[in-house]
Amino acid sequence: MQEHSDLMRSLGKTIAFVPTMGFLHEGHLSLIRKGRELGDNLVVSIFVNPAQFSPGEDFESYPRNLDRDFDLAEKSGVDVIFTPDEKELYPRNFQTYVELEKLPNHLCGISRPTFFKGVATVVAKLFNTVKPHVAVFGEKDYQQLIIIRRMVRDLNFEINIVGVPTLREPDGLAMSSRNTYLTSEQRIDALCIYKALKKAQELLKNGINDAANIINAASELIKSHMGTTIDYITICDPETLVDMETIDSPALMALAVKIGKTRLIDNMMLNPE
Ligand code: PAJ
Repeated sequence: MQEHSDLMRSLGKTIAFVPTMGFLHEGHLSLIRKGRELGDNLVVSIFVNPAQFSPGEDFESYPRNLDRDFDLAEKSGVDVIFTPDEKELYPRNFQTYVELEKLPNHLCGISRPTFFKGVATVVAKLFNTVKPHVAVFGEKDYQQLIIIRRMVRDLNFEINIVGVPTLREPDGLAMSSRNTYLTSEQRIDALCIYKALKKAQELLKNGINDAANIINAASELIKSHMGTTIDYITICDPETLVDMETIDSPALMALAVKIGKTRLIDNMMLNPE
């Protein structure tokens, strides 16, 4: 991978990079299309990163289908599919990690305390291997996106980070590899996540700008669906992720909800008039 990237760079080609854990869906493909626009040579990595799963999470059962992924990537104009194996990325005695001090102490980092350490570390390693000029991430994983932006600034990676809006199913559910875990009844319940976000936007439009009120309404809506468990619902500053009490400037509403055993996340901006 490094030799390929050195060659591309020596030829004056720009490298665009889309890191993924595979089981590609339309959301990934929209990142790939963006990457196609942004660089001469487009690299997609597929690696289910053990360092970002805790014991008891779904590392083993995470959906995988490399043949299908290769097919989709090829059809989308990807030049290189990079599939490192675990031993290559984490050799025996591996002991160097990337950790951020503040951004992981909010939202998903609370119930998944080692998750962003695993994400930042693997992305830093992939950046040093793929040597891209530009890398594309989804706003669906908003906290991940701003953590990577922060890491790139703090550690002086010469990489432009580009965010892509969340791709949704026609009814509004955010696309995710984990949606495949849902039964058909759960798939219907899962829509309450999107509905809660839309409800929040509507309340704000109707003049309610008290965050606690909006969170309460969203929470009631979700709880009315049996089999859902709220991990968190937060309205926060989109740069620091610190909770906001009053929505008097653009705010991020983010939530994580378990539908049965499947944990799904989503977010939307709340923009006061
Ligand atoms: P993964 O969940 O496979 O997602 C890969 C990229 O696709 C991420 O940038 C994610 O935000 C984006 N994505 C997922 N669903 C999307 C949707 N519905 N719309 C737009 N973009 C979407 O995120 C990871 O993998 C990993 O943490 C990784 C960055 C690869 C590090 O291991």
